[in-house]
Amino acid sequence: MSAEGSEIYGPAPSTAADREPTPAPAWVYLLRCPDGSLYGGWTNDLAHRLKAHRSGKGGAKYTKSHGRDAVRLAYAEKCADKSAALKREAALKKLPKAEKEALAEKWAADNKITLRMATPDDAAAVCALYNWYVRHGVQTFQYTPSTVEEYRENIAHTLQNAPFLLAESADGRLQGFACAHLWHEREAYAWDVETTAYCAPDCIGQGVGGRLYRALITLLKKQGYYNAFALVTGSNRQSNNFHKALGFTKMGIEKRTGYKFGQWLDLDYWVLPLQDGEGEPQPVRKQLTAEEIAEALK
Ligand SMILES: CC(C)(COP(=O)(O)OP(=O)(O)OC[C@H]1O[C@@H](n2cnc3c(N)ncnc32)[C@H](O)[C@@H]1OP(=O)(O)O)[C@@H](O)C(=O)NCCC(=O)NCCS
Repeated sequence: MSAEGSEIYGPAPSTAADREPTPAPAWVYLLRCPDGSLYGGWTNDLAHRLKAHRSGKGGAKYTKSHGRDAVRLAYAEKCADKSAALKREAALKKLPKAEKEALAEKWAADNKITLRMATPDDAAAVCALYNWYVRHGVQTFQYTPSTVEEYRENIAHTLQNAPFLLAESADGRLQGFACAHLWHEREAYAWDVETTAYCAPDCIGQGVGGRLYRALITLLKKQGYYNAFALVTGSNRQSNNFHKALGFTKMGIEKRTGYKFGQWLDLDYWVLPLQDGEGEPQPVRKQLTAEEIAEALK
């Protein structure tokens, strides 16, 4: 993208060539059924595939007759592409049960996450995760990667009003973050926030975003916020399904509102009421106690 003349004209439209290449996502996975058996498969959308198994629609005969909505993800392994995933799936299915169990046990240990509140010192890790989406996707309308210093300020500013949560694996890898910003600055909007979440690309569809968002929503309710809004790119099926699953209601679509990587994008508006009633609200509690936070992050 050319920066020539940008002081006069603003940003040049980003072209399809500006998108950094993303390896085709493909996964092999094992699902644990309630009778203890393991079912193996491959997919290019882990969360979508899990939903299909659990709903019994478009999943597999085996999971439909072995617990359906009670099946749980027991193992996930990222593969370079579809053909690698198909080969790996065939190999996985031939493994003796003990070896599948060993894979599942290690996966569970490696992916045990803990949630904590971010500090400005987490800026480098959060910024690296977020910038992956700036460079590769249309989940964010941002063209230019953020700097660590901008993220330092962003985290510090966010924490003045609302939580900024991190999910980390046992070895300290950042698996995702979720945060809330004031929806608008004017006083009458003081009870409204905009929420968002980003998971590391290889952690998608494994429950990380759900844990982060549920904790975030619990904390926002405790603070006394009334509405959580989320703005989701229309073509971002993952995040639209995610917000629906988390109880948000779609309230509208802003058509053709963003332009990135050579395409116009819609923006879907989602809302989740956080309190009942129409009476006069209490002022929002900007800071919760350490006990309240620990309870929500358990
Ligand atoms: C959107 C995002 C944060 C969701 O987090 P996640 O860890 O992938 O989602 P989870 O596995 O925790 O799923 C939570 C719920 O959403 C549902 N869900 C998530 N992705 C889904 C999909 N593609 N299809 C259907 N349902 C889906 C799950 O079924 C689950 O429902 P349940 O709690 O009833 O079982 C994550 O996918 C992500 O970071 N995506 C890329 C960045 C992005 O789009 N961020 C949002 C910007 S608005």
